[in-house]
Amino acid sequence: MASTLIKNGRIVTAVDDYTADILIEDDRVSMIGRNLPAAGQARVYDAGGLLVLPGGVDVHTHLDWDFGVARTVDTFGTGTKAAAFGGTTTVVDFANQTRGEGLLPGIENWRRRAESACVDVGAHMIVLDVNRHSLAEMTTLIREGVTSFKLFTAYPGVLMVDDGALFKAMRVAGGSGAMICVHAENGPVIQVLVEEAVARGDTAPTHHALTRPSSMEGEATHRTIRLAELAATPLYVVHLSAAEALTAVTQARDQGLPVYAETCPHYLFLTVADYDRPGFEGAKYVMTPPLRNQAHQEALWRGLKTNDLQVVSTDHCPFCFNEQPYGMKFSKQQGRNDFSKIPNGAPGVETRLPLIFDGGVRQHGLSLNRFVELTSTAPARLFGLFPRKGTIAVGSDADIILFDPDETWTIRGSEGHSRVDYTMFEGRRGTGRVKKVFLRGQLVVDGTEWLGKEGMGEFLRRGASGRI
Ligand code: URP
Ligand code: ZN
Ligand code: ZN
Repeated sequence: MASTLIKNGRIVTAVDDYTADILIEDDRVSMIGRNLPAAGQARVYDAGGLLVLPGGVDVHTHLDWDFGVARTVDTFGTGTKAAAFGGTTTVVDFANQTRGEGLLPGIENWRRRAESACVDVGAHMIVLDVNRHSLAEMTTLIREGVTSFKLFTAYPGVLMVDDGALFKAMRVAGGSGAMICVHAENGPVIQVLVEEAVARGDTAPTHHALTRPSSMEGEATHRTIRLAELAATPLYVVHLSAAEALTAVTQARDQGLPVYAETCPHYLFLTVADYDRPGFEGAKYVMTPPLRNQAHQEALWRGLKTNDLQVVSTDHCPFCFNEQPYGMKFSKQQGRNDFSKIPNGAPGVETRLPLIFDGGVRQHGLSLNRFVELTSTAPARLFGLFPRKGTIAVGSDADIILFDPDETWTIRGSEGHSRVDYTMFEGRRGTGRVKKVFLRGQLVVDGTEWLGKEGMGEFLRRGASGRI
């Protein structure tokens, strides 16, 4: 039996904070205590002066994803290696239905692509056609551990479903232990604004933000909450960026509804002003919903403190700024003369933990426990992975990171491990660095050294989602 002993670390979970040793046998934590003796075979790591945290859980990535107009540049191998370097040991990625086909071929295709994963992976399913067949397939998928489904109120003609379809999918999820994830923006109204802007010749990246007003995110969030209430399903609002949307979520939660929401680092650290960077640089920040102003940002930080927002995930959806490699379609350059053609999405899977530690714990007064809860425990609980993932406890997977709370960093795209050619946080400085990462007991990251390998990630059959 392979055994590992992590000694003298300050173990922080969502609820605990104490100094102890952790014995790992095979892939699980087998003992936690003071002065644990090293068994004959044990590899011993001294974590003195370091935080010992559960591996991060990122429940919003798009790896090797065909978005129709463009394909995300990371494979599961490269994207999850980047995740691991950032302290994330579990990723829940979006599989998708192709229009006219069923959900099951979509998940089979995703599982083939996910074989190269370096960390453990689960799948949400994007549903595009809601009909008797796909509704029945939802139940099959839930039995196979795919217990969350994303539907869009945005992107008419591409990804959007109408309210009736959304409601039908919600009823199935509500009765079967699944949760609906919603991309909440008013797609048809945004389409009018986009068409008008392009017709006027307002084609620069800044018009991406101007044509996607926060009120239309608030409207769609409110609407989908009301549909979820009627359908009696838990609802998870993905990539929430707007104060109006947060108000809708807060009111629903105050009513006692099982409504949850995530935000992403880019909404917490960047603003609409980034679209005005010189030249075409603003295209690097084109994702949906768009970046907002300072007032929205402050509302989001408040929401993280008050638990009106429960999760910080990345929405890692990487398209290169310059040419994509291997002739892959299309980079951000596609929209040089028309912002509406810029592939929507941005990278971030590697920088989440250091950013939230620095911005959240050091600058906005989040406790260490809350930091762990937002980046690991809450997403694991919400998406049926807890207590296997999301905590350090006897019997849990030994997904553990050693984190130096005092080491400083400067983010450089050239030092990242994603295949994408930029970071939105270039040059940003902060404090708090991932030093070592264990995936199910195996040391996969040791400083700047990669010890993991493609294919070592396991598929996660998840339990019920949204029942916490
Ligand atoms: O712009 C974004 N967020 N791209 C990824 C797709 C999505 O809506 O999550
Ligand atoms: Zn979305
Ligand atoms: Zn996304």
